[in-house]
Amino acid sequence: MTDVGLIADGSVAVRGGHIVAVGTDREVARQVAIGARTEIIDASGRVVLPGFVDPHTHPVFAGTREEEFELRLKGASYPEIAAAGGGIRSSVRRLRRATAEQLRQEALQRLDRLLSHGTTTIEAKSGYGLDLENELKSLEVIAQLNRDHPLDLVPTFLGAHEVPDEYRQDRGEYIRLIEEEMIPRVVEGDLAEFCDIFCEQDVFDVAESRRILITAREAGLKLKLHADELAASGGSQLAAELGAVSADHLVYTDTDGIAAMAAAGVIPVLLPGTTFFLRGERYAPAREMIAAGLPVALATDLNPGSCMTESMPMILTLACLKMGLLPAEAICAATVNAAWAVDRGNMVGSLEEGKRADLVIWKMKNYKILPYHYGVNLVDTVIKSGRAVYRDGQFLT
Ligand code: NIG
Ligand code: FE
Repeated sequence: MTDVGLIADGSVAVRGGHIVAVGTDREVARQVAIGARTEIIDASGRVVLPGFVDPHTHPVFAGTREEEFELRLKGASYPEIAAAGGGIRSSVRRLRRATAEQLRQEALQRLDRLLSHGTTTIEAKSGYGLDLENELKSLEVIAQLNRDHPLDLVPTFLGAHEVPDEYRQDRGEYIRLIEEEMIPRVVEGDLAEFCDIFCEQDVFDVAESRRILITAREAGLKLKLHADELAASGGSQLAAELGAVSADHLVYTDTDGIAAMAAAGVIPVLLPGTTFFLRGERYAPAREMIAAGLPVALATDLNPGSCMTESMPMILTLACLKMGLLPAEAICAATVNAAWAVDRGNMVGSLEEGKRADLVIWKMKNYKILPYHYGVNLVDTVIKSGRAVYRDGQFLT
């Protein structure tokens, strides 16, 4: 992870949306013929990186929760706000009232902001519907956004994000609804590739999570877990036991959890923006994970409650400052490792022949500036599947 594979004076050749050659200018010039219709983009004095893959986002929600931000500044905790009816459940009430078109319009603005900060692929979760109709509505919005917007979206069903108000007295019935009605319909409609769950004290415990995830796996979905976010919930071990593709958050994961994930090949997706936004003191043990050989990935966790940002560059800065990653490690975590965390490792996440031509040109003379010059947007040009879609602050349609 400390080697970005830097090519000084490099070129990338693209044809039909894919990378056909990458190397030094001279090597690439030898491999490809430049014709009358070849478009040449000069990135002299700049850095070219693969587009970021953001492997954990909740981009479909209605309205924002800045009042909770203020409550937390006055001393309330995230679980306290949730217990008082705020938190995820307040977003659920609002999403249920919103039309699919309203959700689509709101999410489109978030996707534009993601793209303008250098992200070209995201994982996108449902999870603010928490009933059949509204979970399907959210996933259909994700499918439509995937068709309409240049970003690629990898859809995840997160019906087990929280127990909705109407099942607070009968959580077993809600679990039955997820297993017997939601998962079959999601799979039938080909609306998700992954199933995720919020495995945490007071949300879904390990036994409940295991049940739901096994049902999802048998139905053909790949697995992800929100694990060990607020306490050591046993989620990382469960991810290993079930062969999940990733386990996410992992703030309280201990040495045993790390060893279990390493043995099972589970990718840790770390979300330092969430710890920062919730004013946590403790960050996920990224250094220990890297030392154990785990391919640490980074994500925004974009959501209205615990991390309201579309900016991967900001996440890289936090990963460096708060978890001790080096700039090269943070870039690796946000590109190739993140691609593997959404099972797209052989399609995107690096500048290699055969991969999709998702590239970002940065206004910086070397890559170490990316996490260092923070809180501003240094994106020059975003190229998605070989086409420039954003340049100098403008979307190109
Ligand atoms: O990843 N942890 C659970 N879900 C989100 C928070 C969602 C919300 O507060 O709306 C998260 O942090
Ligand atoms: Fe999340």
